[in-house]
Amino acid sequence: MWQTFNFSKSKTHFLFNGKFNDAIKLVNKKDVVFITDENVFNAHQIKFKNQNCIVIKAGEAFKIQQTVDAIIDQLIEFKANRQTTLIGVGGGVVTDITGYVASIYMRGVAFGFIPTTILGLVDASIGGKNGIDVGVYKNMVGNINQPNFILHDYSLLQSLPIKEWQNGFAEIIKHACIKDAAMFNTLQQHDIDFFIKNKKATAQLIHANAAIKIKVVQKDEFEKGDRKLLNFGHTLGHALENQYELSHGEAISIGMTYACELSHQELGFKHTQQVVNTLAQYQLPTYASFNAKKAMKILQHDKKSEEDAVNYILLQKIGKGVIRKIEFAKLLDFLSK
Ligand SMILES: NC(=O)c1ccc[n+]([C@@H]2O[C@H](COP(=O)([O-])OP(=O)(O)OC[C@H]3O[C@@H](n4cnc5c(N)ncnc54)[C@H](O)[C@@H]3O)[C@@H](O)[C@H]2O)c1
Repeated sequence: MWQTFNFSKSKTHFLFNGKFNDAIKLVNKKDVVFITDENVFNAHQIKFKNQNCIVIKAGEAFKIQQTVDAIIDQLIEFKANRQTTLIGVGGGVVTDITGYVASIYMRGVAFGFIPTTILGLVDASIGGKNGIDVGVYKNMVGNINQPNFILHDYSLLQSLPIKEWQNGFAEIIKHACIKDAAMFNTLQQHDIDFFIKNKKATAQLIHANAAIKIKVVQKDEFEKGDRKLLNFGHTLGHALENQYELSHGEAISIGMTYACELSHQELGFKHTQQVVNTLAQYQLPTYASFNAKKAMKILQHDKKSEEDAVNYILLQKIGKGVIRKIEFAKLLDFLSK
């Protein structure tokens, strides 16, 4: 059953545990243009049969202006107009770019998402942040504009590579750490193989985990307060991601590990070992050796940084994330230990 969630300027209809074709029932079929990437298209071709479909190259490297331009050229070829609905079917790259194109094509057309990665299902598709990268700067250009709908069809996960399951579980663990101790307990009791094999448990977990993000965004759509908590693990994570060619999940997993240690130093947080063990159960890295000075340099350009400090997301306890200002000098000291 579709559920409606209100955001400040618009509503998003959600269908958890739906079927791909339910999306077409929502809109006029001949006015739909699907946007997907090569991997998703190849794995699920039959779903796109007889549909207007734009297939982009897969991967973060293509979340750029040239891809936007190419999509717009194809929309013009398809004679897409203000009645058109764009449906992004893919991971965060596809949904970020689809939302962005929909926001600017003809000054804005309707759009919806069918996320196909764990990360997309619980995180990237939710919250209306759309955009692209510019050079080394991630998500430098974009807007906040909520999709008309988000549809979950968990059968699409059958083709998802193990690496992407790991990436997605980093965000699942993140949401549990900052907001839901009971979910963290459930995660502690299982591992990644359990969820890959157990479709029902995965569906329940994804639904509950996505609900955490929906609630945070509803409360603070424009990131003045609580939405910042979603950056748990991301401050150091982003500083390491490109430098060491880590996947996003690996980078934020390392970021969460050190954020727990910093939480211990600053707030007396007692459960670092539990978080570290849980990350390891989902085949994610934890402690790592890296160049602290180099990481600090990148971190100082983080969107959350101010002149001499950064707003760091720490844990008071499992299930309770907090924002604390940490001076750069103190952070360098901590990271150099
Ligand atoms: N807008 C937001 O709020 C938000 C939040 C978090 C992340 N993001 C963005 O999300 C992006 C990362 O998303 P991602 O991790 O989903 O990466 P992705 O979109 O690059 O997908 C990862 C890989 O999995 C493949 N893939 C996707 N679904 C598949 C399926 N079902 N079967 C087989 N292969 C499949 C893709 O082709 C790609 O190679 C980043 O650009 C990040 O900035 C956005």
